[in-house]
Amino acid sequence: METVETVAALRERRRALGTADVGVVLTMGALHRGHLALVEAARAENRHVVATIFVNPLQFGPREDLARYPRPFARDAALLAAAGVDLLFHPPVEELYPPGFATAIEVGGPAARLEGAARPGHFRGVATVVAKLLSLTSPTRAYFGQKDAQQIAVLRRMVADLDLPFELRTVPTVREPDGLALSSRNAYLGPAERAAAPALYRALRAAARAWRADTRDAAALRRIVRDTVAAEPLLTLEYIDIVDPLTFAALEEAGAGALIVLAARCGPARLIDNIVLEGAAG
Ligand code: PAF
Repeated sequence: METVETVAALRERRRALGTADVGVVLTMGALHRGHLALVEAARAENRHVVATIFVNPLQFGPREDLARYPRPFARDAALLAAAGVDLLFHPPVEELYPPGFATAIEVGGPAARLEGAARPGHFRGVATVVAKLLSLTSPTRAYFGQKDAQQIAVLRRMVADLDLPFELRTVPTVREPDGLALSSRNAYLGPAERAAAPALYRALRAAARAWRADTRDAAALRRIVRDTVAAEPLLTLEYIDIVDPLTFAALEEAGAGALIVLAARCGPARLIDNIVLEGAAG
């Protein structure tokens, strides 16, 4: 695996990969098995795999964890090389945002609510860096994790609205054996918080079971999640909603394919998770 840090070097190395299919996996580093599942999916469908590691300051709010976000670069690079990545782009901040940088992508629609409301400017920052990284890496397909379901909806909207010639692929959330969705931010959890956090997925599964048993009323499904999470004192639910997976509009009736999405505080960490309502009763 070759690592490049400048836009010029990336362009040159990308050109050398030629016209065969390229899959890209965009990350902020602090990699876990969820990221490696993205690389695996990219490898399965493309001749070459490009990965990026860039902790994007534009998507962090002023009171968020930009400074303490983990940056174990040597470990991350070794994981990506072992997973079969061909080319890694790891630019310093000034390479993507040089002095005078003044352009951003304004996102609406699916970016308006939930994470968008809780983290003003977050999706604008995500869309801007993803547009830059897709333009630079010019992939056939780009791979994103289902855990960040709203991010996927925002990026799908952006790709459609701006006629960007890239295919976006969603890869299922990878979980710990107790159900906790893998996230770089799980590193912030102390032992008691780590033990409490799987209640989020238990709550989502309880609501999904009720849905499979024919509960379609979104208020009733939200109540199931709230009650399950409330039994765990170390968790504070920030939001719980049933939404359309493309628009992220709130639904009153949950049809097949709807998403239950939530965010919760757990000690120093803010955790998000979701479940797709699908499947037969059981
Ligand atoms: O999902 C992430 O890790 C980030 O939001 C992304 C897509 C790499 C953009 O910085």
